[in-house]
Amino acid sequence: MASNSFGKLLCVTTFGESHGPAIGCVVDGCPPGIAIAPGDFVHDLARRATGKSRYTSQRHEADVVEILSGVYAGKTTGTPIALLIRNVDARSRDYAAIADAFRPGHADYTYWQKYGVRDPRGGGRASARETTMRVAAAVIAKRWLREKWGVEIHGWLAQMGDIVARVPAGARIDFAVVESNSFFWPVAAQVPELEAAIKGLRKAGDSCGARVNVVATGVPPGWGEPVYGKLDAELAAALMSINAVKGVEIGAGFASVAQRGTGHRDEMRLDGFASNNAGGILGGIASGQDIVASMALKPTSSILVPGHSVNTAGEEVDVRTRGRHDPCVGIRATPIAEAMVALVLMDQALRHRAQCGDVGEIAPRIPASSR
Ligand SMILES: Cc1cc2nc3c(=O)[nH]c(=O)nc-3n(C[C@H](O)[C@H](O)[C@H](O)COP(=O)(O)O)c2cc1C
Repeated sequence: MASNSFGKLLCVTTFGESHGPAIGCVVDGCPPGIAIAPGDFVHDLARRATGKSRYTSQRHEADVVEILSGVYAGKTTGTPIALLIRNVDARSRDYAAIADAFRPGHADYTYWQKYGVRDPRGGGRASARETTMRVAAAVIAKRWLREKWGVEIHGWLAQMGDIVARVPAGARIDFAVVESNSFFWPVAAQVPELEAAIKGLRKAGDSCGARVNVVATGVPPGWGEPVYGKLDAELAAALMSINAVKGVEIGAGFASVAQRGTGHRDEMRLDGFASNNAGGILGGIASGQDIVASMALKPTSSILVPGHSVNTAGEEVDVRTRGRHDPCVGIRATPIAEAMVALVLMDQALRHRAQCGDVGEIAPRIPASSR
């Protein structure tokens, strides 16, 4: 398997390179009857896009989605849905000077070792340009999840470098605030601090890492599978497949290490779960609580400060990356994380329906939270 596809019943394949003529995806296994039009992709693609904010890369792609197949008279037909976006603002000259050098922190050296050939323009297939198609595919998944099941998926930037979002303990995230600023940041009062931090990084020619959180609400208990198709395992793999992600946590994640059993296990009463350290998943199966995931992204590797490396001729060189780059790639990763969660959940929902559709609702059903 070449691993450009994922999902079992909802199978998504993406194709294309950063500076090729186009990128695209095929979404196979989608149920018929979902209303989809090219305009439906605009909102989420704009959230992920470059060039829309002063704080991210200045590559300006229109990201216009062409629906090539699988939709007739405005509704999915059940046949493969092919989506295409043409690349219009690729600036390959930025990469000519470093075509033979392996940029530190990038996939240049590993692609070279694996394939013996690579497309150096903008990172080729390893570029986060590919994630545009994940976001496009997930527009369909998000709609199906929302309209059929009432599932909502929201992400936010929880930390940028050493700046942590000051959300009071136990408070709900205000997604109107998250959507009101270019950082997907949940605390409006901190936005000027973030702006100043990005300006400082740009001036220093440096970059920083980030933490992105995602929550899925309304997921019915039962979605997910034992034992190799665990919902948490598939979410972790899906989030980890996003460029620059170096860590994924579900629920309390690594904080579980320092917890006691008395504090970690989420006690149940008929009026609800007392806590959600499990992140809404027990034994790989959704409990009906919010599904909570978090991911760590590394600092952008392409920075103005020169770094030591080697080239294809086996010489040591200094690499200074030109081109248009995000000083913090985590800022734009929020919609991508939501997309991966949506695609995994839709696939798992279809699998659950296929195997257990006749089981129906089982009593007792414990509310997500007793608070
Ligand atoms: C939304 C997004 C945008 C990115 N933009 C850049 C960028 O402008 N410059 C850069 O060096 N890396 C960028 N990256 C990260 C690289 O694609 C990634 O680090 C590289 O392909 C190596 O893969 P790995 O970090 O997953 O091992 C971005 C990642 C994401 C999620």
